[in-house]
Amino acid sequence: MCGIVGYVGHREALGVVVEALRRMEYRGYDSAGIAILDGEGGLAVERKAGRLANLEAELEETGTERFVGSTGMGHTRWATHGRPTDRNAHPHLDVTGKIAVVHNGIIENFAPLRAELEHAGVEFHSDTDTEAAVHLVSRAYAAGDTKGDFVASALKVLNRLEGAFTLVFTHSDHPDTIVAARRSTPLVIGVGRGETFLGSDVAAFIEHTRNAVELGQDQVVVITAEGHKIMHFDGTDAPGRPFTIDWDLAAAEKGGHDYFMLKEIEEQPQAVADTLLGHFADGKIVLDEQRLSEQDLRDVDKVFVVACGSAYHSGLLAKYAIEHWTRLPVEVELASEFRYRDPVLDRSTLVVAISQSGETADTLEAVRHAKDQKARVLAVCNTNGSQIPREADAVLYTRAGPEIGVASTKAFLAQVTANYLVGLALAQARGTKYPDEVAHEFSDLESMPALVQRVLETAPAVRAIARDLAQSSTVLFLGRHVGYPVALEGALKLKELAYMHAEGFAAGELKHGPIALIEDGLPVIVVMPSPKGRAMLHSKLLSNIREIQARGARTIVIAEEGDDTVRPFADDLIEIPAAPTLLQPLLSTVPLQIFAAEIAQARGYDVDKPRNLAKSVTVE
Ligand code: F6R
Repeated sequence: MCGIVGYVGHREALGVVVEALRRMEYRGYDSAGIAILDGEGGLAVERKAGRLANLEAELEETGTERFVGSTGMGHTRWATHGRPTDRNAHPHLDVTGKIAVVHNGIIENFAPLRAELEHAGVEFHSDTDTEAAVHLVSRAYAAGDTKGDFVASALKVLNRLEGAFTLVFTHSDHPDTIVAARRSTPLVIGVGRGETFLGSDVAAFIEHTRNAVELGQDQVVVITAEGHKIMHFDGTDAPGRPFTIDWDLAAAEKGGHDYFMLKEIEEQPQAVADTLLGHFADGKIVLDEQRLSEQDLRDVDKVFVVACGSAYHSGLLAKYAIEHWTRLPVEVELASEFRYRDPVLDRSTLVVAISQSGETADTLEAVRHAKDQKARVLAVCNTNGSQIPREADAVLYTRAGPEIGVASTKAFLAQVTANYLVGLALAQARGTKYPDEVAHEFSDLESMPALVQRVLETAPAVRAIARDLAQSSTVLFLGRHVGYPVALEGALKLKELAYMHAEGFAAGELKHGPIALIEDGLPVIVVMPSPKGRAMLHSKLLSNIREIQARGARTIVIAEEGDDTVRPFADDLIEIPAAPTLLQPLLSTVPLQIFAAEIAQARGYDVDKPRNLAKSVTVE
């Protein structure tokens, strides 16, 4: 949610900043803007509503001569305060035109700050909350005990701000320095030779350096070409956490695909395999960061899973596995609802927070609420060092690699895999599964990447069905047991990518209302359970298919290879390999991702950047 980049070094900043924005654009694409300092007191700014391409076209048309200098910053926006217009695009300037700011997050007390500034005669040029910050820094710099001190002025203002924010300030009288700060939204530093970078995530500078430093909560960094200095908001020194980026540039590039999402769908076997890697050693499941003792895990008497969107769907699947393996009650809750309904938590409750980005504000606040109530928190996260794992008591990282497509695919499969590992870790600690059973479940998981690869081979057939249905107005998805969350995920993918009305139902619920929606030709995608693993459920679902087919629906059935009983009732059949019941979602979800992506493409939409969405949602 909003991408931020900064650069001080020896290269022309314009190229570095625009390239970094290209890699950050998945975080928001309502507008883009840059500010470049020429080193002699000049500050050149350009900003444009819409995608980065609009800004680039503007730069091409008006010329880039103004943008010479080796210090700069940039922003891609996901609008919160103020419509996505040129006027509201970042960077924003102070009244002197010397100080610029870019911002990710929300300054919650911006209204009184703006009123105070307007009362003092400051004229605002945007509807954003951000602009207040730059005017405050300007006033602190102009007078009082921080007069003429850029860093001290920024610190003074940061202490007055409430909410969640990453802010980056430049001052044309201090062209060798950038001041940046973070609270609850991300910011990482890239350490190069004679150059220093800032980014909302490491993709911003991966092509220049693999040495990064993570900034803690309520910390400020001052960067120059020579290095960086990290402080707390009170100005005292703070340590950063250095780390090496362990994925390469290719992971952040499309690699010959039209869209990142298509590449990420194909990377799923690897994502599942990598997520399993190293998590079973000496006959035991091991987590990544374990600040909980075995006794803590044994003491758990209830599990809550909190997450949003696709991560929530992965959590719904976790419930089936964790309850089955551990006999612990599991509640799965939308993170955005969790803390507002006073859930019953105590120190023997384990809250599993699932988040690809590790930044989602709803999930982060759910984690904080859980911790306030003394519950233990285990994070399942794809982003090393992000806020949610930092605040958790234990972490299991999904190793899906960078997911750039806004719609989650490989991260979802990795989450399902990691959640199952959490279930096995609990079963092992509580003794509800013998060690050889845990080993058996793990080896079943290890066989999944090859099976996912086989499902990917069905892509041409799935695409053909998708193209045929591209002009439908509604698609329904049905499933039972673990097929139900898969149906929800399939519907979500179709909504967000193809802007189509899509709904997922538990097939058993059909007769309680939704069957009224069935009409001639309505496409209904059905996720069948295995006829062997779940024979009774299978026959119930078969009846459900008959019912809808009798009412004219076009049935597209995802079923296990060799399941001949469904053939007569499937207008289209997509076959997937046989797998243990709980693991089938790792297979049945894949055709639904391909289906949604193909329909979106057939309708002419950008698969990587669906309208109104952003990759990480750092506002509640
Ligand atoms: C859907 C999708 C979103 C995310 C949700 C949570 O394709 O990507 O629904 O799953 O916004 O994001 P994270 O996992 O980053 O917390």
